Formats: sequence, structure tokens, C-alpha cells
Amino acid sequence: MSQTPATEAARLSVAPMMDWTDRHCRFLHRQLSEKALLYTEMVTAPALVRGGAVHLLDHAPEEHPVALQLGGSEPEELAEAARLGAEAGYDEINLNVGCPSDRVQSGTFGAVLMKQPDLVAECCAAMIGAVETEVTVKCRIGVDDQDAETVLPDFLERVGAAGVRRFTIHARKAWLQGLSPKENRDIPPLDYDLVARMKERFPQFHISLNGGIETLDAAVAHLEAGFDGVMLGRAAYHRPVDILGAVDRRVFGAAGPDRTGEDAVKAMLPYIENHLISGGKLHQVTRHMLGLFTGQPGARAWRRVLSENATKPGAGTELVEEALAQVTGIAA
Ligand SMILES: Cc1cc2nc3c(=O)[nH]c(=O)nc-3n(C[C@H](O)[C@H](O)[C@H](O)COP(=O)(O)O)c2cc1C
Repeated sequence: MSQTPATEAARLSVAPMMDWTDRHCRFLHRQLSEKALLYTEMVTAPALVRGGAVHLLDHAPEEHPVALQLGGSEPEELAEAARLGAEAGYDEINLNVGCPSDRVQSGTFGAVLMKQPDLVAECCAAMIGAVETEVTVKCRIGVDDQDAETVLPDFLERVGAAGVRRFTIHARKAWLQGLSPKENRDIPPLDYDLVARMKERFPQFHISLNGGIETLDAAVAHLEAGFDGVMLGRAAYHRPVDILGAVDRRVFGAAGPDRTGEDAVKAMLPYIENHLISGGKLHQVTRHMLGLFTGQPGARAWRRVLSENATKPGAGTELVEEALAQVTGIAA
């Protein structure tokens, strides 16, 4: 298996999450880990290609390795979107075959494509033909009443035949009727064993496990059990220091020291300053920082100072320093 920087980084990745993993969130996560792979929110191919919304591709050079996740189901349009993503400098182009939301279903994106593996294969072949950048797929184990035991290997085989070598599998079905997107991330049962069997059956593929991984210890255990990678979503967002602060040492073998919440806050201050100078608002960045001290003394005060004040007109980095003083105990 050829190793690209994104492939190496995919040993531990932070999941694509709409409205959460925007560029500010990714910049924050990068202050905690130099090595982990970061995913964008899903960007739809129609928005990029028909809507011309190329600003959705904006990101900072410091975010690398960073993967662009695309949504779509029209091969030529996805190929063009992949081209735009590759030109913008992304290290990987990922196709979303896992997201169950209504809006997404109506455009035939996301998890509903688990029912159309040949179309997914066609989309991936078109993207692979259009870019040098690695094209990957994030999928579920199946949808609705599909038999995941047969559907998943069939899906991997067909999409693999189109040239995809790296998959992230959210180890639960999506139920397309009757569950909200949020419920679809919790209610359908997890089946890690099925995903493990896919790794045995397709040793040539790089397979990352996703879904319900709550701690770095659990992530490391899955890697030791033979998965090529693990992807964490909600835990990484809500407890970024616990998950990402030690990941370079524990997963990537880098020398310490581990990063702390305080390190991340200090590293964010110049970034926030620049964001404010260019007309941005404080809370656009700090809303992603609320979980930095979860579990530590002062965490509630940190959250309170930021959430009550960051949207006020004129709020700036001094507010962040004031909030930090609540945790460190140093007078602001
Ligand atoms: C707020 C939110 C938004 C999400 N948006 C996307 C998305 O844009 N694309 C995608 O493939 N998955 C999306 N997901 C699903 C996550 O990528 C991930 O598969 C899921 O949360 C399971 O992983 P976890 O249990 O570690 O959170 C989203 C999840 C959350 C919580």
C-alpha cells in the first residue's frame, strides 16, 4: 500500500462534522496534534460546481494534513469538485456515503448511496481520473433492511474495483426513515466485528473504524486489534485535549510533551487576533474551544465566561485570556 501523508495521518482522524469541523475548529485541533488527519465538513459538489461556492474550500496552510469531504452522486460533477479541491491543496478527497439527513437524501447524497454501489464506483472512478490526490470513501455498514453481512463486502469490492484503496466505515447502519440524523448516530447498533471481518477479507484496503469511539485508550486498542485507522467525531469535538493532546505520542510515536488546553489557547490567540482584524467574530472561533478544559477545575467558569460574552460587540482576545485565568488561577 503506498503511503501518502494523508494515509499515514489516517491512523487517527477527526471525522467530518457539518457545522462543527469548520476551518476554525480544524485550526484548533491542529494546535493539539500535528499528525492526526482532519476532515472538513461535507461540501456538496453542486454547491461548488453549479453554485460556484469555491470559498467553501478556504483553509489555512497550517491545517495539513487535511481532507476535503464531498457530497454528491453525479460522476462528472464530483470529478470537477474533486479537481477544485485538489487545486485548493487538499491532501485527500473523500466521498460521503454515510450521512443520512433528509436534505442530503433528497439530493441523492450520503448513506442512501449504500444502495447504489455501482453508482458510487462510477463517481469514484471519475474523481480518480480527474485528480492525483487520493480519493477515499466514508460509508456505513448498510441502510434500512439491507443485510450488512452481504451488502458491505459487495460495496467494498465494487468501489475497490474502481480504484479506491482507503475506506472509513461508520460501524452502524443508517435507517433512512423515521430517525433524525442525530438518532442515526446513536440508535442503530454498532457492529465493530463486521468491520473487523472486512479488514480480514480485504487486507489490501486501508480500513478505518468509526462510530462510538470515546477515548484515546479505546482508539489505541482498535489499532492494536488490526484496524489501519480510527476516526473519532463527537469525542474529539467535545473533549479535544483528551483525544488529540496525546495522540502524536501515543498513536504516531512522536516525542512528547503532550499538548494541554492552555497550550492550545495560547496558540490560538494570534489566530483569533487575525480573524478579528479581518472582520470575523470572536465566537466563531471560541465556540469550538468550549470543551478544552472538560474534566478540569475551572472548566465551567471557562465555558461560562466565553459563552456569555464572546458574542458581545467588541469581544476580543482579552476575553479569552480572562476565561483562561479561571482555569489557571492566574489573575487576568
Ligand atoms: C454534528 C455532526 C455533523 C456531522 N456531519 C457529517 C458530515 O458532514 N459528513 C459525514 O460523513 N459525517 C458526518 N457526521 C458523522 C460523523 O462523521 C461520524 O461518522 C459520527 O459522528 C460517528 O462517529 P463518533 O461516534 O465518533 O461521533 C456528523 C456528525 C455530527 C455529530
